[in-house]
Amino acid sequence: MTIVIKTQEDIEKMRIAGRLASEVLDYITPFVKPGVTTLELNRLCHEYMVNVQGTIPAPLNYCPPGYTPYPAAICTSVNQVICHGIPNDKPLKNGDVVNLDITVIKDGYHGDNSRMFEVGTVASHTRRLSQVTYECMWLGIELVKPGARLGDIGAAIQRHAEKNGYSVVREFCGHGIGKKFHEEPQVLHYGKPGTGVELKAGMIFTIEPMINAGKKDIRSMPDGWTIVTKDRSISAQWEHTILVTETGYEVLTQSAGSPAKPVLLSAPVTA
Ligand code: MF3
Ligand code: CO
Ligand code: CO
Repeated sequence: MTIVIKTQEDIEKMRIAGRLASEVLDYITPFVKPGVTTLELNRLCHEYMVNVQGTIPAPLNYCPPGYTPYPAAICTSVNQVICHGIPNDKPLKNGDVVNLDITVIKDGYHGDNSRMFEVGTVASHTRRLSQVTYECMWLGIELVKPGARLGDIGAAIQRHAEKNGYSVVREFCGHGIGKKFHEEPQVLHYGKPGTGVELKAGMIFTIEPMINAGKKDIRSMPDGWTIVTKDRSISAQWEHTILVTETGYEVLTQSAGSPAKPVLLSAPVTA
């Protein structure tokens, strides 16, 4: 198992790729409204990446072993879709939630991030799932520093999700990232404190918890990519790309439109 420790030059380029990935989400935000199709969101993001940013959409034709090439520039996962939703011509409707997952390549380096979007007015239980999932991601991020273990991160995410009555998807995880889209290590969103890989300055990986309102079980759709909850409950996901620094962490996928850290984390955490 080889975890790449990034050089100062790698880190500079990952900062740029990360910011650009986040700026695609900033750009697309005002377009996420009732009536728009995910195919249109894909088209807008694709054109922005290629024509405005000079980035390459990493998902397009991405083909891990056992898969067919991914057919779009972004992933659009609506309601019960957990991840890897393929953009289609069905209009989003009032009350939907959609995860937009953007990965760009700039100068050979990848930036990977996703956010949840509310379409019109969304039910309070659905907003709560998205909010708790955001807190899960940040609870994980806040633990990142040299000497911490990946199991610490997974355990914190799992604890917060389950405390709120939700479940953590097991089949997909965060990942090392750099010149490759998916590198070692695997960053599980569940686990035991004090176990797993020890973090070292210069590691870069994503934290991207997928949290289901119902049971954790998944189902793969016949298109070979789309993953849904087996019980058809709503699922949420947020993702950032994180650098381990000498003293803690740096969020690489940041831009002017990045949502603030959740309030939960600015208050002391008890129990
Ligand atoms: N962006 C996803 C991740 O966070 C991976 C998508 S693979 C694709 O790891 F091919 F569906 F784009
Ligand atoms: Co990722
Ligand atoms: Co992603």
